[in-house]
Amino acid sequence: MKQMKIGKSGIEVSAVGIGAWAIGGDSNWGPSDEAESIRTIHKARELGITLLDTAPAYGLGHSEEVVGKALEGRRKDYILSTKCGLRWDIKEGGFQMERDGIRLLRNTKPERLAEEVELSLKRLKTDYIDIYIVHWQSLPEFPVPISDTMGFLMKLKKEGKIRAIGASNLSVENFQEYIKYGDLDLMQEKYSILDQAKGRNFFDLCDKNGVTFQCYSPLERGILTGKYTLDTPVNMGLARKGIKWFQKENLPKIVELTEKWKPLCGKYKCTMTHLVIAWTAAQGNGKNVHVLVGARTIPQVEENVGGGSVTLEAADVASMSADVKGLST
Ligand SMILES: NC(=O)c1ccc[n+]([C@@H]2O[C@H](COP(=O)([O-])OP(=O)(O)OC[C@H]3O[C@@H](n4cnc5c(N)ncnc54)[C@H](OP(=O)(O)O)[C@@H]3O)[C@@H](O)[C@H]2O)c1
Repeated sequence: MKQMKIGKSGIEVSAVGIGAWAIGGDSNWGPSDEAESIRTIHKARELGITLLDTAPAYGLGHSEEVVGKALEGRRKDYILSTKCGLRWDIKEGGFQMERDGIRLLRNTKPERLAEEVELSLKRLKTDYIDIYIVHWQSLPEFPVPISDTMGFLMKLKKEGKIRAIGASNLSVENFQEYIKYGDLDLMQEKYSILDQAKGRNFFDLCDKNGVTFQCYSPLERGILTGKYTLDTPVNMGLARKGIKWFQKENLPKIVELTEKWKPLCGKYKCTMTHLVIAWTAAQGNGKNVHVLVGARTIPQVEENVGGGSVTLEAADVASMSADVKGLST
């Protein structure tokens, strides 16, 4: 497995990480089995995946709790990231969404983050977080200056409660503010071969400022694994409802695309998932994109880890990019 540094923090991680969103087991992904989730987290580390990402909002604390149980006695073996700024347990904030009858609110005020970090540390059964990421940015209806948020995160860093700062779901203006007021080491954005917009806006900016671009949903929530045929039943939780490629009229385009890439899998002796992870890691300057892949079962993680060892020739990266150019919905 290739390794990479996170921004200027000095933290080194495996080039492929494991995301614990689905482990949260809410209506985004449907139920998850706790024992299987814990075994999956252990297997990931055994196979060389060191970065583990979670968030309070994943299952309203459940994902963090499961991660906390999995890491008991093993904390030092993992680089752990979790998030802040998205709450279901307070009344004040910008409206993000309603899920299962619960209102999720964006609130990145320092006094709220002060509560939140303690709640996460408790659920995670640890006294430090390696990378602390602002999950979503404040909305005009409930504005919080990034200078305030970043100022507080820098204080947490000084106290040793967090080792590095990340931010997610950013505009370019947000990014500029974060780097103006503190040490931003990582940005986490949705990015895949089917959804490349954020890369166009941020790859250069990240390289110039020593910030790691970490992409989430690189498999487009599973559709790029090659496991879907036209007849495969799809578990359409909320997480997949927002992905247009799962819709009946679009799925055939993905099936056709992955069929087209099968000879490349033959060339690199790899699976479709490996191919897509390797394409993703090769983006930008080829050294600064971290690939965060969600998994909740051992077979998934056993497969995904292999993507971190595949290096594609530039011509193949280009031909895959060309294949998706004409794809429309
Ligand atoms: N900052 C943010 O706002 C944000 C947003 C989204 C995600 N994230 C983070 O990024 C991580 C990754 O993104 P993601 O989970 O949305 O999407 P993803 O990595 O594109 O897809 C993950 C899903 O694909 C399926 N899968 C994974 N490996 C597979 C394999 N080898 N074979 C077959 N199916 C496989 C699993 O779903 P099934 O088991 O259901 O098939 C899995 O839950 C998340 O877990 C989370 O930590 C952050």
